[in-house]
Amino acid sequence: MKALMIYFTMGGRTKKVAQTIVDALPQYDIAYLPFEFSGNLSEKLKIVEKFNNRDFSMMEDTLNSLDSEKYDIIFIGMPTYGNLPPKVFDEILERMKDIKDKKIIIFSTARFTGEGTVEYMKSKIEAKGAKVIYTQNFRGFFKISTKKVKHFAKKIRF
Ligand SMILES: Cc1cc2nc3c(=O)[nH]c(=O)nc-3n(C[C@H](O)[C@H](O)[C@H](O)COP(=O)(O)O)c2cc1C
Repeated sequence: MKALMIYFTMGGRTKKVAQTIVDALPQYDIAYLPFEFSGNLSEKLKIVEKFNNRDFSMMEDTLNSLDSEKYDIIFIGMPTYGNLPPKVFDEILERMKDIKDKKIIIFSTARFTGEGTVEYMKSKIEAKGAKVIYTQNFRGFFKISTKKVKHFAKKIRF
């Protein structure tokens, strides 16, 4: 079974969670497809603004390399913006070819909410006919607990 870890990060927290999950599952072959951006708050807000205008040009290359057909299991990790995933999530989902037979594992990161992010992702993925097998929101104002991430990862079997 081949697995793919897709994540979006602007501050590194979702990246760290993604890496902790992959590192905790050495028995599986998990490739990465990272969408990584960084910058100060105003730069981050500019990216969010572009997403809201459905402008994903800054990540066109990564979106084009999205070869989801090759994988049976797909992890998707997103931060929380206004208790929802960033719009790039919808774009990623739209760009995925037929995902009916895929099993999807979703997680979000947040400072104080985040349940809405996983709920939104789950319903959109299920509407495309894929099966969501695990979901988790990782919340932490200053820091996300690595212990909690490892605990979640250890439950995962596919
Ligand atoms: C524009 C923006 C909006 C955010 N909105 C929320 C929110 O509604 N709820 C929340 O808990 N955290 C919110 N956050 C915090 C991020 O979701 C949180 O820090 C996340 O872990 C960042 O992930 P990253 O470091 O991978 O980019 C927001 C952050 C930004 C930049």
